[in-house]
Amino acid sequence: LRVAILISGGGSNMVRLLEDMAEPGHAAEPVLVLANDPTAGGLAKAAAQGIATSVVDHRDFKGDRAGFEAAIDKVLRKADVDIVCLAGFMRILGADFVGGWEGRMLNIHPSLLPKYKGLHTHQRALDAGDTEHGCSVHLVTPALDDGPILGQATVPVQEGDTADTLAARVLKEEHQLYPKVLREFATSLKAE
Ligand code: GRF
Repeated sequence: LRVAILISGGGSNMVRLLEDMAEPGHAAEPVLVLANDPTAGGLAKAAAQGIATSVVDHRDFKGDRAGFEAAIDKVLRKADVDIVCLAGFMRILGADFVGGWEGRMLNIHPSLLPKYKGLHTHQRALDAGDTEHGCSVHLVTPALDDGPILGQATVPVQEGDTADTLAARVLKEEHQLYPKVLREFATSLKAE
C-alpha cells in the first residue's frame, strides 16, 4: 500500500513513519511527502531518505481553499496514494477533500481525544489541572479532530510542567504511537 505523509514543519512524526515502513513486514511503503510550506524542515529529511517530495504552498491559493485542496488531491492521485497520513499538518482540510479520502486518511493529535480538539492542547490540559494527557491517532472526518480513534497514548502531567515540557513528553509518545497504528491500519487495509 502506498502512503503519502502531509507535513507543515519539522516532520519528526514523518521521520518515524518512514523509519518504521522501512522495517520488514510492513504492509505499506512511503511514496510521497507533501508540505504546504516550502520551508518545512521535514522536506529535506524526506529527500535524504530518498522519498519524493512535493510542495503545495497554501499562500499561492489565498482565500481559495478549494483550489489549494484540489491541488493537493491532484498530487496524491497522481502518486497513486492509498493512505494519507497527516503528521504535524497545520491546515484544516474541508469536507470535500476529506470525503475523497474518508477511511484512508489518518491524523495524529496531541491530546486524549475527544478532549482538547484544536490548538494549544498542552496549555489547556495544564489549565484544566489534568493529571493525565497524551496523543491520539484518528481517522480524519469532516469535523475537526473528530473521527474514529485508532490509538491513544497517555503521559503523566508532572509538577512544574509547562506547555513545552508537556509537549515534549507527548511528542515522544507520538513517535511510538503513530508508527504502531499505521502498521496495524495498513495490515488490516491490505487484508480487506
Ligand atoms: C507537534 O506539536 C505534534 O504534537 C503535532 O504536530 C506538531 C509537529 O509535529 N502532531 P512534527 O514534528 O512536525 O511531526
